[in-house]
Amino acid sequence: MELTPRLKAVAYQVPQGARLADVGTDHGYLPVWLLLNWRIRRAIASDLRQGPLDNARENARFYGVTERMEFRLCDGLSDIRPEEVTTVTIAGMGGETIAAILEAAPWTIEGKTLVLQPMTSFPELRLWLQRHGYTIEHETIAREVDRLYTIWTVRGGEMSPLTPAELWAGKQSDDPLRGEYLDDIRSKVARALEGHRAAQRPDKAAIAQLEEVVAGLNAMKEELA
Ligand SMILES: C[S@@+](CC[C@H](N)C(=O)[O-])C[C@H]1O[C@@H](n2cnc3c(N)ncnc32)[C@H](O)[C@@H]1O
Repeated sequence: MELTPRLKAVAYQVPQGARLADVGTDHGYLPVWLLLNWRIRRAIASDLRQGPLDNARENARFYGVTERMEFRLCDGLSDIRPEEVTTVTIAGMGGETIAAILEAAPWTIEGKTLVLQPMTSFPELRLWLQRHGYTIEHETIAREVDRLYTIWTVRGGEMSPLTPAELWAGKQSDDPLRGEYLDDIRSKVARALEGHRAAQRPDKAAIAQLEEVVAGLNAMKEELA
């Protein structure tokens, strides 16, 4: 069984021997692969919807890992107890959904490893983590087809305040895809800026904020070069 580069990058951040909850598991490929490769001891696969959970159950059966896996139909971590898991993965969901899931499960701040792979709302999620006592310990970047994804390893703890550019792009790193990622984020911010400038009544504060982000991203790009 092969994982796609995005899910493989998530899998590599899961500590060896973890007891895992994979929230929003869908097909269940992530926990199934981790169990198949004996990287984790047990997994709970959870999803909000019955269809995806049935798919995960079927995949677990196909690959022969059902005995080490449980399936929970629930919203976020609502049916998972803290003592059942050491690590939580939440991948392929919007940043705001991820924040809502963590907000409803404050126990995730205490001694758990969280591996998050948001699809949207990066600045909002980084800010939420910072304000709620989590620290992003490590970020990695994966390329799948023509899209880049970030995967964050998060734990409870104080995070030094992030600059406006870091809220968008994370802290500077020596990831081989970092330069491309900065370009990617810069074009997202530039599009948002264009939208604001073209508005009938431009929001000057928002424009100034985004200009500061662009300046910060440019500085990061130069530093990298
Ligand atoms: C795009 S899929 C991502 C699947 C997989 N995690 C991945 O990264 O490939 C999102 C999954 O999250 C589930 N989901 C969305 N909101 C959820 C929530 N609040 N709690 C649990 N599952 C949720 C959806 O039903 C769907 O199966």
